Amino acid sequence: KRLILVGPPGSGKGTQSPIIKDEYCLCHLATGDMLRAAVAAKTPLGVKAKEAMDKGELVSDDLVVGIIDEAMKKPSCQKGFILDGFPRTVVQAQKLDEMLEKQGTKIDKVLNFAIDDAILEERITGRWIHPASGRTYHSKFAPPKVPAIDDVTGEPLIQRKDDTAEVLKSRLEAFHRQTEPVIDYYSKKGVVVQLHADKPPKDVTTEVQKALS
Ligand code: AP5
Ligand code: ZN
Ligand code: ZN
Repeated sequence: KRLILVGPPGSGKGTQSPIIKDEYCLCHLATGDMLRAAVAAKTPLGVKAKEAMDKGELVSDDLVVGIIDEAMKKPSCQKGFILDGFPRTVVQAQKLDEMLEKQGTKIDKVLNFAIDDAILEERITGRWIHPASGRTYHSKFAPPKVPAIDDVTGEPLIQRKDDTAEVLKSRLEAFHRQTEPVIDYYSKKGVVVQLHADKPPKDVTTEVQKALS
């Protein structure tokens, strides 16, 4: 399966991705995770991306299209993939379609994590992450057994630099202005499935499974 997960910051894309990935043996390509790794490693890509990310603005289309083009060549992505946080502009969507056309494939489904903006601040400001595995916790909705410690590895959890109420405002603005048109773009192709992303995580998983069955 070739899937796109689209939705505003905190809508649950990263939470549902590992579940879908394991169930359908897909590779999980999250541009945000890849960019954060590049920033942490201070690579040339990371240096270019950092300023926009800290402000909650989108990184340039060329940079992210380049990362995805490279990542999709991995053998593990040949059977199928989950794109989490990409494409985020209509230009990115068009470039992706071109890439897939060359391989003779196309996107099967776009899962739209529909949710009201009002719920997202609490989700974002309570988020804790285990960077190595991508596991996500929430201080209230999904707390780790020991505060700030990963359940599985015992390693420390971190909070994202852009997970403040202030930066969330620009991230939401970018979503409505630049990413909602991507949903329209794929709606016209008839591949969008609407999810109720405001439900508890297990219910969202059930909706995802229904959409993919
Ligand atoms: P990115 O990392 O993609 O961030 P985002 O889109 O803002 O999405 P989030 O990761 O914040 O949300 P999520 O839906 O994954 O939420 P999660 O499941 O973790 O991008 C970061 C930055 O990178 C961008 O701002 C941009 O600068 C750059 N970038 C990335 N891709 C780009 C692109 N294609 N083009 C240009 N720039 C790009 O859940 C959040 C919290 O809620 C967690 O704590 C979780 O436990 C909790 N939670 C999840 N689901 C539920 C539920 N159902 N009920 C209760 N709590 C829940
Ligand atoms: Zn995410
Ligand atoms: Zn909107």
